[in-house]
Amino acid sequence: MKSSGSAFRNVLPAVPSSGRRSALFALAAGSAGAVLGSAVHAQGAARPPEAARDAVVIRFDSSPYVPTPQKVVDEMLRMGRVGAKDFIVDLGSGDGRIIITAAQRLSARGFGVDLDPELVRQANALAKQEGVADRVEFFQRDIFKTDLTKADVVTMYLLPEVNMMARPKLLAELRPGARVVTHDYHFEDWLPDERITLDVPEKKVGTPGLAYVYLWIVPGQGAGRWQGKMPVAGGQVLPVEFNLEQRFQIMTGSVSVGGKPAKLVFAEMIGNDLSVIFSTEVGGRQVRHELLATTRGDAATGTVRAGNETPAPLLQGQAVLSRTARRAAYLGEAVPSK
Ligand SMILES: C[S@@+](CC[C@H](N)C(=O)[O-])C[C@H]1O[C@@H](n2cnc3c(N)ncnc32)[C@H](O)[C@@H]1O
Repeated sequence: MKSSGSAFRNVLPAVPSSGRRSALFALAAGSAGAVLGSAVHAQGAARPPEAARDAVVIRFDSSPYVPTPQKVVDEMLRMGRVGAKDFIVDLGSGDGRIIITAAQRLSARGFGVDLDPELVRQANALAKQEGVADRVEFFQRDIFKTDLTKADVVTMYLLPEVNMMARPKLLAELRPGARVVTHDYHFEDWLPDERITLDVPEKKVGTPGLAYVYLWIVPGQGAGRWQGKMPVAGGQVLPVEFNLEQRFQIMTGSVSVGGKPAKLVFAEMIGNDLSVIFSTEVGGRQVRHELLATTRGDAATGTVRAGNETPAPLLQGQAVLSRTARRAAYLGEAVPSK
């Protein structure tokens, strides 16, 4: 499952400014006062006057209710490759539309959590009305107290700060290969594996008229020294060694072929799949090699293709590697201890 990631890595919109956040809050204040009326936790903010204290909410671990337009819901599910075998969790599920659509149209199972009891009630009623209450359920629960270990796909439409607070939890609890799909906001230096922009004329919040949808595939741990043998252009089977560091899904480091340094062009971990592009000199010219291998612990098996011309490769063969030294991958800050 290779992504189109690198093409857009440098064109992420900035994490929305406080202006954009204000727009979301303003809309919520007008259309969904429930969230804005439930508690006050404005860390470091000036204390509001007594009368206003219960009416103003700024919870830094929460986001107001703004529903995702159906067109964006459909795209989120498409990008998350949601199917009948998947268990999907929506963090901050509102009226339940993402999970209910996944069950109705794609036969997925799952649950949603929301702080707002009225939205949870509505979502469960809608699930019943739509005939999917046997496959989905909604709970009044904080996303930070929600077990994500069962999820194949997690969806989120939350404020940028809340995404960042949830990031360590997602990386700690989700299995490699699980997908995270967000509407509008991203995870800063954990770059998405895919991203699209949709025209949504009726959308009035965020960037009016536009919706950003992002996909991440939780990376497995691929860092370390991998050694083995593989065929290279020219037909020889040579010893290869990759020394790889890992930052989220991106790998950097060095490669040698037949004991000589080669050029590491690109490497990444998509779930448990290690993909490495390198070039090595064969017959006086640099030839591109692409390794695609599935890792299982310290073993990796896959295929290598060599050749500068597509579609016909010069060579295609089996690659078998083993990790002789592990290194810890950097997957962001750890989950804060409770
Ligand atoms: C922008 S709405 C998105 C609703 C729905 N996911 C959708 O896309 O239509 C965000 C929702 O997250 C809920 N929420 C915010 N912070 C939360 C938290 N810490 N735990 C659970 N729910 C939360 C809010 O009550 C709100 O309904």
